[in-house]
Amino acid sequence: MPALVLLGAQWGDEGKGKATDLLGGSVDYVVRYQGGNNAGHTVVVGDQKYALHLLPSGILSPGCTPVIGNGVVVDPSVLFSELNGLNERGVDTSKLLISGNAHIITPYNVTVDKVTERFLGKRKIGTTGRGIGPTYADKINRVGIRIQDLYDESILTQKVEAALDGKNQLLTKVFNRRAIEVEKVVEELLGYADRLKPYVADTVLVLNQALEQDKVVLFEGGQGTLLDIDHGTYPFVTSSNPTAGGACTGSGVGPTKISRVIGILKAYTTRVGSGPFPTELFDEDGEALRRIGGERGVTTGRDRRCGWFDAVIARYATRVNGLTDFFLTKLDVLTGWDEIPVCVAYEIDGRRVEELPYSQTDFHHAKPVYEYLPGWSEDITQAKTFADLPKNAQNYVKALEEMSGAPISAIGVGPGRDETIEVNSFL
Ligand code: GDP
Ligand code: IMO
Ligand code: MG
Repeated sequence: MPALVLLGAQWGDEGKGKATDLLGGSVDYVVRYQGGNNAGHTVVVGDQKYALHLLPSGILSPGCTPVIGNGVVVDPSVLFSELNGLNERGVDTSKLLISGNAHIITPYNVTVDKVTERFLGKRKIGTTGRGIGPTYADKINRVGIRIQDLYDESILTQKVEAALDGKNQLLTKVFNRRAIEVEKVVEELLGYADRLKPYVADTVLVLNQALEQDKVVLFEGGQGTLLDIDHGTYPFVTSSNPTAGGACTGSGVGPTKISRVIGILKAYTTRVGSGPFPTELFDEDGEALRRIGGERGVTTGRDRRCGWFDAVIARYATRVNGLTDFFLTKLDVLTGWDEIPVCVAYEIDGRRVEELPYSQTDFHHAKPVYEYLPGWSEDITQAKTFADLPKNAQNYVKALEEMSGAPISAIGVGPGRDETIEVNSFL
């Protein structure tokens, strides 16, 4: 049995944490493969609410082994505070495995992230300020620090020196900041080594052996398709590959092992940070979606930008990820509208365009072409089966499925684990 990938089909915050947690009870491993603590995944279990940033959402399922893969960037201080928070609430985190090849978010990269954004001024990306971009930049520049480097002081010192040589020039001469001392950084990083040690593993081997033994492995994406460094709305993206291919490079599991790719799709659209967003609303409907949907960032506390569902984006997500299924979330938030606009195409400089334009200029000019679907007013949060949904809600789901190019196999009608309608089984 199989490896499954679960990822965001829009601009993040689609409800990946809830979906992963839901499946976590039936899988053996849940693996984060990219991103870091820029993610904010909310999981609601009974009356308990958890906000996870770096840890895979499977950590809340006792039978499941959570894994931080090689493609993730790890801020050890954040990791420890997240582990402490869970331990204080009685969650056992001892099974966690972390790849020795995962890169460390060093304190200087958090500084560089914040200073770079300040210098970009109105052109800023609106990053989470967690050091994600500079850490991936160091990785690609081959001056990154990996978890395994913590266990060889001499190598660690040489690598921090190599990283800071250039960075200190930048910080002092361009950004007008004080230089960062190699010794201080090395000391801080070494301070994490002992506590990290029991978790560090050859996760590539562990995961591939697990698959050979017919265990079920679930890959949990952070962020979303349109925030992907290659396939997203560049440059207003994150610095990793949340799309399906990232699950392979970020974990060392080959594509032939992956049998299902599930796109988490919000019944409307949200985005945090800068960048184009064709269906964004600036009126009371946008305000209502934000209020009813509780659309406020889990990581930075920023209000999320809100808009109607965009089928062009959903189709694009199906294509670039090879989606086999959708998990539609937050349908309950749309209760109460007489009719619900759905963007079916764009108008770009007078032309109707059905697919996401590859040109950034065109995408910035894209205006949504709406179809209006009849709404419903009945409370749907208690619905357990598709048939329990009011006819118009059923039709909304069917219309989205038709436009988006993959079957909708689950529907979220509330934040809780059990507030989900399972249409087709994922396992
Ligand atoms: P993630 O980053 O993709 O894990 O999503 P976030 O946790 O940042 O944001 C999704 C929010 O929607 C969280 O507050 C979830 O508790 C909530 N949520 C998830 N699914 C549903 C749903 O079907 N209905 C409602 N009302 N809330 C949901
Ligand atoms: P989850 O996993 C929504 C956005 C930031 C910014 C851009 C780059 O909860 O869906 P970064 O700090 O990654 O360099 O910022 O990406 N962003 C997210 N938006 N959900 C997330 O994660 C995000 N992680 C990053 O707002 O626009
Ligand atoms: Mg989130």
